[in-house]
Amino acid sequence: MKNGTGGTGTLGERPTAAATPWLYLDGDFVRMSEVRLTPSIQALNYGTGVFEGIRAYWNSAQQELYALRLRDHYERFADSCGFLRLDLPASADELVDVTVDLLRRNGHRGHTYIRPLAYKRSFEPGVPFGVKLRGVTTSLSLHTVPMGSTVSGLGLRCGVSSWRRIPDTSLPARAKITGGYANNALAVDEVHAAGFDEAILLNQAGTVAEASTSNVFLVRRGELVTPPPSADILEGITRACVTELARDELGTVPVERAVARSELYTADEVFLTGTGIEIQPVCEVDGRKVGRGVPGPVTTRLRELYHRAVRGEDDRYRHWLTPVEL
Ligand SMILES: Cc1ncc(COP(=O)(O)O)c(C=O)c1O
Repeated sequence: MKNGTGGTGTLGERPTAAATPWLYLDGDFVRMSEVRLTPSIQALNYGTGVFEGIRAYWNSAQQELYALRLRDHYERFADSCGFLRLDLPASADELVDVTVDLLRRNGHRGHTYIRPLAYKRSFEPGVPFGVKLRGVTTSLSLHTVPMGSTVSGLGLRCGVSSWRRIPDTSLPARAKITGGYANNALAVDEVHAAGFDEAILLNQAGTVAEASTSNVFLVRRGELVTPPPSADILEGITRACVTELARDELGTVPVERAVARSELYTADEVFLTGTGIEIQPVCEVDGRKVGRGVPGPVTTRLRELYHRAVRGEDDRYRHWLTPVEL
C-alpha cells in the first residue's frame, strides 16, 4: 500500500482555506479539503459501496486513545466488500495499521468516529455503461470525525416503522451496503415525523429485525433476548460485546430467537446496541412505556460495564482495544 501525502481524490466536503483533517484515499493520506466529488462515481449512482462505523475512545486520565474492535470491523468490512465484488487492496491487519496512522495524524484527543468506505468508482476501459459489479474500479477511503459518547442516556422513545427491513433475499442486511441504508432512512424519517427518537424495523415475517443503526435487545420474563441473524439484522459488533458482557458479568447468555412486536410492549427492558448509539435504553415503544418507562437494571449494568471497557478501564476487555499513541 502507498503511504504518502498529496493527490486529489473523489470524495469529500467543501474545501476550506484552513487545514482540514487528513483522510486516507486509495493509498495516500490527503487533506479533506483537497478532495473533490464527481457525480459519475458508480456508487453514488447505484449505492454500490460498503462501509463501517468504528469508534475510538479517549481516556483523559490515561491520556490514551483506544480504537474499539478494529479487526472485527475490518473482517466484517472485507465480507461486505466480497459481497459487492469490491477489490479491497489491503488485509484487515493492514487496515488496522492505516487506521492507527490516520488517528495519529489527525491527533484528536477526544472520542472519535472512524468511517471506512469502499465503493465502486468508474468503469474499466472498454466496459460499457450500465448497472454492474464487474468491470468497475474500487476506491477505498477512511476518514475520522470527533464524536462524543452518550453516557447520560435517559431512554429513547421508539416507533415501529411501517417500512419493513430489506430481506436477505433482496439485499442482505448482514453486509453494510450504502444503498441499503435508504431503507433505514425511510424508517427514521417516518418515525421522526411522528415525534419519536428512533425507528425499529420489522422484517418481512413481521418480527423485530433491528433499529435504524443498532440491534435490539429485550429483557422479558427473566431472559435476555435478541433477534437472530436470520431476522435480517446486521450482526452488530456492539451486540457481540453485550453478549460477552452478559455472559461474563451477568451469568446469562442472550437467547437468539424471533421477537414479536408485541413483546416490545410487554418487555421489562428494551435497549439498543450499536457503535454510534453505544448501549441506549428504550423507555417507550409506540407510545407504550417499557417497564416503568425508565432504564432498567440490566440495561444500566451493561451500559456501565461497556463504557468502562471501551475506555480501557477494565483490563478484562483490553483485547477489544487497540491503543493509539498520539
Ligand atoms: C443497521 C444496523 N444494525 C446494527 C448496527 C450495529 O452494529 P455495530 O454494533 O457493529 O455498530 C448498525 C451499526 O453499524 C447498523 O447500521
